[in-house]
Parts: sequence; C-alpha cells; structure tokens
Amino acid sequence: MPMFEDYDLVQASEKQDKQDKQVRKTASMANTNGNGNGADHAVEHHLGHDSLAIPGEHDDGPIEVPASRSSISEAAKYMHNLSATPSMKERRGSRNSFGSTLPIPRSKRQSRLSSVHYPDGDEALTRPTRPGMPPVQPSRAILASQVQSVEVEKVKKAKNMAFAFDIDGVLVHGDRLIPEGRRALEILNGDNELGIRIPHIFLTNGSGKPEQARCEQLAKILQNPVNTEQFIQSHTPMSALAEYYHTVLVVGGEGYKCREVAEKYGFKDIVVPNDIVASDPSIAPYRVFTEEERASSRPRDFTKVNIEAIMVFSDSRDYATDMQIIMDLLRSENGRLGTMAKDPVSQRIPIYFSQGDLLCPTEHWTPRMSQGAFRIGLEAMYRALTGTDLERVVYGKPETATYKYADEVLASWMEQLHGEERLPENIYMIGDNPASDIIGGNMYGWNTCLVRTGVFQGGDNDENNPANFGVFPNVLEAVQTALRKQLGDDFKMHFDDRINPVLHGDAADAAAII
Ligand code: G3P
Ligand code: MG
Repeated sequence: MPMFEDYDLVQASEKQDKQDKQVRKTASMANTNGNGNGADHAVEHHLGHDSLAIPGEHDDGPIEVPASRSSISEAAKYMHNLSATPSMKERRGSRNSFGSTLPIPRSKRQSRLSSVHYPDGDEALTRPTRPGMPPVQPSRAILASQVQSVEVEKVKKAKNMAFAFDIDGVLVHGDRLIPEGRRALEILNGDNELGIRIPHIFLTNGSGKPEQARCEQLAKILQNPVNTEQFIQSHTPMSALAEYYHTVLVVGGEGYKCREVAEKYGFKDIVVPNDIVASDPSIAPYRVFTEEERASSRPRDFTKVNIEAIMVFSDSRDYATDMQIIMDLLRSENGRLGTMAKDPVSQRIPIYFSQGDLLCPTEHWTPRMSQGAFRIGLEAMYRALTGTDLERVVYGKPETATYKYADEVLASWMEQLHGEERLPENIYMIGDNPASDIIGGNMYGWNTCLVRTGVFQGGDNDENNPANFGVFPNVLEAVQTALRKQLGDDFKMHFDDRINPVLHGDAADAAAII
C-alpha cells in the first residue's frame, strides 16, 4: 500500500482536475463538431483509462477522483512463481488502464435513497431514556435550546466537530451490538449537557443491501436513529458508475439483493451470475442450481449480449461459480460470453470491487475473509491463466474517493442538523482496521481513533498505520475522549432535563429544579 503525504494528494487531485477539464473540453468539442458519435457514453478519453466513457457534463453528474491505490493487481506478492510468464510487455495503455480515477456522485444528497429509521419505528422512542424511566418528553427540546442559547461558545465548538464511524468491529459484530456503541451514539444524539446533536456519519466497507434496508436493520441493533443521508456503504459511491455503463454484471450478496441495489443506483441492464447459470448450466460445473433459483433468475442468450463492466458489490456467496463467470468474462472479447479475446488486455472489460478488506470481524472468534481475499484469488488466477496482471478499480476505505464522498455527505448532514452546509474542522474517524479506516483517515487529514473491538489485536498502536488520536478499548472511550478534547474535560455526557438553563448559565450561582 503506497503511503502519500496530504500535499501529494492535493497536488495530484488539482493536476487531475485540470487534465479532466482539458479532456472534457476536447471531448465535448469533438462531439459538437460531429467527430464523436453524439452519445456521451461512447466518448473515448485519456484520463489514464482509454475507453472509460465520460458521462454527460451536467451539474449533478459524477466527479472523477484520482485513485490513491494502484490499479495493478496485488497478487504477485502473494504468489510463488504461479504464473508461467509474468510479462510486462502488455503493460501499455488499455481499456482497463483507468485506475487513475474513481467516479463518485456529484450530488451530496442521496435523495432517492433518503429516509430515517428509528429503532422501533417510533421517533418518540429515540429520545434519550434513563434506566427504568420513560422517554424524555418533548419539552426537552425547549430546554436544550435554552441551554444552547446560554452556552454559545460550547455550542460553536460542538458544531465544529464530527465523527465518522466504521460499523463492523466498532459498533456491531455482524448482527450483535457492541454495547458501548449504543451509548456513544446516544451521547451524540443529544444525551449531553448541551442537549445538542453532534454530527456523525457511518462509513462502512459493509455491503450487500440497499441503504434503506441496512439503516433499518442498524437502527434496531444500535437502538439509535440511522438516516440514509448519514450512511455510506462500500458500494454507495459506485452509483456514479451507472452513467458509464449500460449492461453490467453485478456479483455478490445474498439472493438478488445486489441486483436491487444496482437498480436503485440507476443501472439499466443488470445481470447477476444466476441469470448466466440459468442460461447455460455447464458454465459452472460444480453448481447445484435449485428450481427456486432457476425460477427467480432472468436467463437470456448471453452470447448475444456485451456485458460492459463487472461490479463486485459484495462478498461472493459462491466463489467457484462467481470466479468462473468473472474469469470467462475477463478473458472474453469485450464481455461477450462464448468468445475468447485475441488480446486479453485491450479487449478486456473493466472490473470494479466495492472494497478491498482482506478480513472482516464477525460473530466468529477470528475475522473472516472478505472481498479483498476474493479479489486477490481472482487476480492470482487471472495472472496464472493469462500471464498478465489484472487491472481493476477498488472502491471503499481507504480509497480517497470514498473519503471525499464522505466529506460531501458530512457537509450535507451538517446542513440538515445545524442549517450550515460546511465541514467541521475536527473530524474523528473511529475504526478497528488500521489498513482501511486508519490509513484512509490519516491520509485524508482526519483524527483517527483505533479501537480494540475488531480486527486490530495489536499492542500500543498499529505499527504500519498508527492511529493519530490514539488507541481505545472501545468506541465509547474514543468518543468521550474526543468530546473532552474539543469541549473541555468537564463536558458532561448526559442531558439533565431538570435544570433551568436560565439560572444555570455561566453567571448563575443558584441551582433550580423545574
Ligand atoms: O470488510 C467487510 C466489512 O463488513 C467491513 O465493514 O464497517 O468494518 O468497514 P466496516
Ligand atoms: Mg470495521
């Protein structure tokens, strides 16, 4: 994993922006001159990815973010002479050499995905509760605003900080709550001395469900509200790719949930491996295909279809079938099954992965293999079979594009909470995985907190990617330490709804219970 200084990224990004503008200008001139074919998706460009089409230039179109991760496969370092001829001669510009930019949506709002989910479907129940007592009454909001009008300086500081939470290994293990996570969120949702909501987003490499469904599930587990507008899964920014490709293979996830995700993102023609197996069962000799699967799939003659790109959205539920189909497509002529490319590089269709984590903490006692392991397996197979490195694009943390998208979402969430669309100065990333959460946050200039409830099992700090704000036993300790740093050591993590703020201001010397 290459390390970058912040200024490298800024400079690279500015340089890329200039190049992008120049190329877009040239491309759009070519089109208006009648030199192009008039269709935006057919415009060839040279942003380091020769054949990736540029979607139309409109204000809510995608933004292309320079990649901070190499586009070249990492299989080599895990292999021992597996490949017959690891040749570099094919390392020339190809339709797949586009790893230099990752498109993300321009629009900050996920309006078509937007909705808030409350733990029990009832907003009233999300009000802070005290053990054995009913939820705090609406007058709390009035009290909170009175407290805030007195504590102007503290409120200013509270609005100048935010949190980005990793989910697996920080707030939950699979479907099991990490108890400190619930309390940490309660504090940020207003159970603090100001009764103020401190902005936080969820930035997970998790995947495999539509945003709305996942937020609903999380709200129940965390017993705190979770809004789709404060929520980013690994594949969320990949919705931008819907403007680049028409027919795509979507891989991973349970049943047909990732087809649903892709539909919600606006992809028009979505193929999943089951559709292909149903059309030609011999493609996957080890697959036992049930009648139910056959009935729910959408077979057609794939020898007549060009699949334009492969999107691995989530963990494969059947490595053998998925790897076989992906490999067949990567080695085909422009994504047409039943063909074999003459040139494996220039005729290869692009492949995207929603994240690169090797491991994921689950209910199991030791972390389980994740999408990164699947990808490295594919890269190794591809190299062994073709003698060529597989180029690919990997979204998710620690990719800069994902953090840039998180910034956009956070600024937008700030507007919803506090009516100010801006980024707070002090952002804290809380994660359990040094190789994704922490390195990504460090590169992006955020404060990083590493917790011991997930992947990280090391000593004082991670040796390769140390968290710059420190290592904490759990998420609650991290949140409390960050709050004390920004709001003072005496900041109270509880809203006292009995106090009369008018009498409890700085000058107040009398306590009154109302
Ligand atoms: O690595 C797979 C994914 O489940 C990790 O999620 O929340 O730890 O980024 P998260
Ligand atoms: Mg994690």
